[in-house]
Amino acid sequence: MWYLRLWLLAPVLCYLSTLATCAEDRDLLLITVATNETDGYQRFIRSLRVYGLQVKVLGLGVTWEGGDVQNTVGGGHKINLLKAELYKYKDDENKIIMFTDSYDVIVTGGKNTILEKFDSLDARVVFGAEDFCWPDKSLAENYPRVSFGYKYLNSGGFIGYASDLYGVVSSHDIRNDDDDQLYYSQLYINKELRNKYKMKLDTHARIFQNLNGQFGDVSLKFEDDDVRIQNTVYQTIPVVIHGNGPTKVLLNSLGNYLAKSWTVSEGCLACEENRLEMETVLEEDLPQMLVSVFIEKPVPFLEEMLGKIELLDYPKHKIDLLVHNQAKLHEELTNGWVASVKSLGYRSVKYISVNDNMKEWHARNLAIELCLKNNCDAFFSIDGEVHLDNPKALSLLLSHNRPILAAGMVRDGQAWSTFWGAVNEDGFYARSMDYMDIINNKRRGVWNVPYITGVYLIQGTVLRNAETRPNFIHRLLDADMAMAANMRDKGVFMYVTNLEEYGHLVDPDFFPTKYLHNDMWQMKANRRDWEQRYISPEYWQALNPNTLNEMPCPDVYWFPLFTTRFCEEFIAVAEDNGGWSDGSNNDPRLAGGYENVPTVDIHMNQIEYEQEWLWILRHYVKPLAEKVFVGYDSDARAIMNFIVRYRPTEQSFLRPHHDSSTYTINIGLNRPHIDYEGGGAHFIRYNCSVVDTRVGWSLMHPGRLTHYHEGLQTTRGTRYIMVSFIDP
Ligand SMILES: *[C@@H]1O[C@H](CO)[C@@H](O)[C@H](O)[C@H]1NC(C)=O
Ligand SMILES: *[C@@H]1O[C@H](CO)[C@@H](O)[C@H](O)[C@H]1NC(C)=O
Repeated sequence: MWYLRLWLLAPVLCYLSTLATCAEDRDLLLITVATNETDGYQRFIRSLRVYGLQVKVLGLGVTWEGGDVQNTVGGGHKINLLKAELYKYKDDENKIIMFTDSYDVIVTGGKNTILEKFDSLDARVVFGAEDFCWPDKSLAENYPRVSFGYKYLNSGGFIGYASDLYGVVSSHDIRNDDDDQLYYSQLYINKELRNKYKMKLDTHARIFQNLNGQFGDVSLKFEDDDVRIQNTVYQTIPVVIHGNGPTKVLLNSLGNYLAKSWTVSEGCLACEENRLEMETVLEEDLPQMLVSVFIEKPVPFLEEMLGKIELLDYPKHKIDLLVHNQAKLHEELTNGWVASVKSLGYRSVKYISVNDNMKEWHARNLAIELCLKNNCDAFFSIDGEVHLDNPKALSLLLSHNRPILAAGMVRDGQAWSTFWGAVNEDGFYARSMDYMDIINNKRRGVWNVPYITGVYLIQGTVLRNAETRPNFIHRLLDADMAMAANMRDKGVFMYVTNLEEYGHLVDPDFFPTKYLHNDMWQMKANRRDWEQRYISPEYWQALNPNTLNEMPCPDVYWFPLFTTRFCEEFIAVAEDNGGWSDGSNNDPRLAGGYENVPTVDIHMNQIEYEQEWLWILRHYVKPLAEKVFVGYDSDARAIMNFIVRYRPTEQSFLRPHHDSSTYTINIGLNRPHIDYEGGGAHFIRYNCSVVDTRVGWSLMHPGRLTHYHEGLQTTRGTRYIMVSFIDP
């Protein structure tokens, strides 16, 4: 087994109890019941290790007969297991034994802390307490009055002297599927028995903090080298934290910090405990992956997204690729991409296209089946809006060695991410106390969270175990919500990590689908990706105050602005629109209906790009204008924004004129000597021409007075330029 082997090699972190040398020689025996080594159990055991506590585990491998305690009553089985164990100590009046549940318990203190607290309670047996009288409300009136404190018994944790504890658990017979809490409650409310065993409730949560109904009473107390739970109502620092009832998710959230999982001084300590050294793994020993791409709706910049999957730094023959596309808009792109990656050496490529008409839930479940069928070591799921900018993303996630782990990613400038920190009662988004700190990377770690989406890794062991296998169907929920809800119900932990940078999410919420090149409209919703595709990388250099900008004619500046890709798509959009003016003086598109110096052109509002173009002027052109025309504050207003088409058979040149602008930009959109011959601008006052204009480069010159100019003749092909009269 791959995981097992590496796990053995992984450095094992040891914690030394700070209280190792204790003058007193008192023992504390910890006992728990666990029939399965669930994620919660592992967390419990880890917390004991951190504080140097030994535990006797009862019931491992035994078939649980105590009922569905999470949803109904039950748990008598625990008492029967405990009774058998305590029999060994039934006459020991000095031995102190603490019992706790394990799946939903975290211990946050060591032996001496616990014993001191127990001593201070001056009892032979102490039970944890809570504000709910469960499972039999009618017993409430029989409880002794508690004026300040938790009133009712909770059986998830108790501590006492062995002989008395044995007396308690053997007081009368109980069936495995009877309720343990009811059993103990009945003893406790019986005054005679209560006195006989000197039983008390931990009403102020000195030792036991039950979270159900009491969540408002606790907060995290950040000490330098540890984080503890503080009960702010009773001013105590409880050490056995119990996520009873519906508080499992809250316990998971607190558990991200407790028991030195994360500390202020050292950050995420738990992160390193399972870590694998991926660099040292031989290529043939790397996990066999199923990488699944789910394109479930139109998303911007899908082409780049897919390109980043190709670039993942992971051997292709170790990857079976599955692509599910449900977006008609992306059919051509996806078909083409799948066809092209077939030659890249993936172990296999499977494509479920629009034509297969498979819904998301089924496609995701099918991916799990395929992974199992391929005997995969792990499953990696990526949605269309996820950009894995870091080529190491896959190996990094694998190195964390967690059963289910999402990569922490956010949409730029938003609180939208690949996880939720909390869920509300209906299973929908709620904000955890640390959510913003995590998405802003103020806290880094591996976080146990109730919901993950978009991009995650699931280890093969999780898939192979029928008890933990993900299922993307749950009532009518969305696929990811369904998966998360199913996992929460089964007590399987889901993690997200922001320890490294993985990439970013695009925002698909403002993505138009009606244009020829919809991504061109995404400068506001997805600025980073838009700039990456459309703004020339050299533009940023041109903007630098230390860069001397080219000036081919007096006060005519020339700078790179757009990528070739932008120019190509721009021309295609214009030609697709096709509403070129006829180059005559009569122009019904203008207010006066008359154009003094007409061209064959298309205005930005014809292609529904007016607002977008003005945005471009404000964000990219204005800063450059202000750089070269020192002292001028540009509004970057423009009424005339248009693509001009010159060709010998139509309009091929433009007679000398002034522009009605403070300054004008004129951007070459296609290639001289390839797409056309001739063309260029001639500035008459200076007898100076700019010819062989470069694709994506803009000329910028004063408009109204000094730069009387003409458009030189295009002698072959078609020449396209984009012109704006700025600050008219
Ligand atoms: C617990 O363990 C039993 C016995 O090994 C097994 O049948 C059962 O499916 C397990 N349950 C979970 C939730 O893992
Ligand atoms: C303009 O420049 C061209 C060559 O650059 C030259 O041949 C021509 O004589 C000049 N015209 C005037 C009016 O100076």
